[in-house]
Amino acid sequence: MQTKLVKIDCKNIKKDELKEAAEIIREGGLVAFPTETVYGLGADALSREAAKKIYEAKGRPSDNPLIVHICDFKELVSIAREVPAEAEQLAKAFWPGPLTMIVWKNDRVPYTTTGGMDTVAIRMPNHPVALALIRESGCLIAAPSANTSGKPSPTEASHVALDMDGKIPMILDGGAVGIGIESTIVDLTEDVPMILRPGYITKGMLEEVLGKEVKVDPGIIADASDKKPKAPGMKYKHYAPKADLVLVEGEEVAVIQKINALVLEKQKKGEKVGVIATDETKNRYQADYVVSIGARTDEDAIARHLYKILREFDAWEVDAIYSESFATPRIGQAIMNRLMKAAGHQVLTTEQERD
Ligand code: TXA
Ligand code: MG
Repeated sequence: MQTKLVKIDCKNIKKDELKEAAEIIREGGLVAFPTETVYGLGADALSREAAKKIYEAKGRPSDNPLIVHICDFKELVSIAREVPAEAEQLAKAFWPGPLTMIVWKNDRVPYTTTGGMDTVAIRMPNHPVALALIRESGCLIAAPSANTSGKPSPTEASHVALDMDGKIPMILDGGAVGIGIESTIVDLTEDVPMILRPGYITKGMLEEVLGKEVKVDPGIIADASDKKPKAPGMKYKHYAPKADLVLVEGEEVAVIQKINALVLEKQKKGEKVGVIATDETKNRYQADYVVSIGARTDEDAIARHLYKILREFDAWEVDAIYSESFATPRIGQAIMNRLMKAAGHQVLTTEQERD
């Protein structure tokens, strides 16, 4: 299959440009499109056959449910068995935006879309191309991130092309995404709302709107990695670059020393080594490739650059990667959740080593 790459000017979307994409979706085909978080791989969410194609193209296990993307709150009502009051409050505050809500599904939603679950994940994305595609197609669009299963999520159309070329009919190129990590997922099917995947919308932001406590799934907290996460997708090693990635935590100078020592060890064995640093530290490493993820205080930039950098290391074919850790105040939890998974939970703490 030939994959058509269609450039779209997000500030001036022409209906004609989206017509063909919308038609592909209506006919049960796949279209990759930009959202504000990462690129999605879309298909008609209410068609069993269409959803199946997504799993095939991604090589994704069929028990890992998809997120249904909508462009109007009414569409949530149309596929949910009941709409909790919290869903309305959160939609008012954060939709369109990087928040996915889990509610009980009704019979319109096929089990293929929900990976066999009785609940469904729903999100209204805040991206003009995504919203226009949903509207123009007249469908609800099931869309996981548009990467091959296990790879870092795509934040640019070229990343999608690398993974999906020849497998899907069309990629809509709306440029680089704004946020760079996937949406926050909150489960509203129990008495206390629970975050199943941290993201740009934080626990504090949810609690402020709801006026009550929101829990975080213990299965996604770094030091509780023995617990099984509630979102099926969170259990897979994922977001991973090809090379072995290790995080090094601790005080800045000690981290730099430790990483440089580790790099030297690997280089002595003839290995090619990469380092993920920040603007403040990038000149203090001696490795084959040193990339800055952004300024240490600019957590939006850190989130936006993370997956692109992991993919760059793949292209450079490094054997090992060492990264500083980025426990920034607001979205640090989401950033570290992705990095920890990419690293398969390999973390070195410099303080501990000194004891
Ligand atoms: O930002 C995003 O959410 C992006 C863009 C494209 O919208 N999409 C995305 O989809 O990240 P995906 O499929 O890569 O991740 C969806 C996650 C998976 O971990 C899946 O297990 C979980 O959501 N999920 C989906 N439906 C669920 C459900 N009913 N119950 C629990 N977890 C669910
Ligand atoms: Mg994904």
